[in-house]
Amino acid sequence: MAIERTLSIIKPDAVAKNVIGQIYSRFENAGLKIVAAKMLHLSKEKAGGFYAEHKERPFFADLVGFMTSGPVVVQVLEGENAVALNRELMGATNPKEADAGTIRADFAESIDANAVHGSDSTTSAAREVAYFFAEDEICPR
Ligand code: PPS
Repeated sequence: MAIERTLSIIKPDAVAKNVIGQIYSRFENAGLKIVAAKMLHLSKEKAGGFYAEHKERPFFADLVGFMTSGPVVVQVLEGENAVALNRELMGATNPKEADAGTIRADFAESIDANAVHGSDSTTSAAREVAYFFAEDEICPR
């Protein structure tokens, strides 16, 4: 299986709940390596650019408002099948539909405040990783 990179964001609700370490443990226990990380308070421009593909959706303004409401932690995860594995660990977008034991089932409140983001394909991952990290900020090992 291919070694992939994926972009993960711990969203403001999970940072406020003080569960960054618990979420990092889920990644590491599943065999994913954190090869880049930073804490940021996103501007409306940075968050809006990240979610540009959703700009016509009715929830776009709320999503940008939420993502700029407090700090986030952004990381690059690396490992076998990293994109799909991270999506499995996250659980469904709506935490009410997320499988037991997933990050969203355990830490998310609602579809608006759902604890984590993860790239949905290797193509999105390449774009999203480059949106937050220069190549020399990533430390594979
Ligand atoms: S879709 O329909 O599959 O494209 O949408 P989805 O990937 O599930 O969601 C895209 C991101 O939008 C967020 N989202 C919402 N935010 C606020 N309100 C509502 N109703 C809402 N619905 C979806 C969702 O959490 C996704 O964010 P990311 O960061 O990509 O997980």
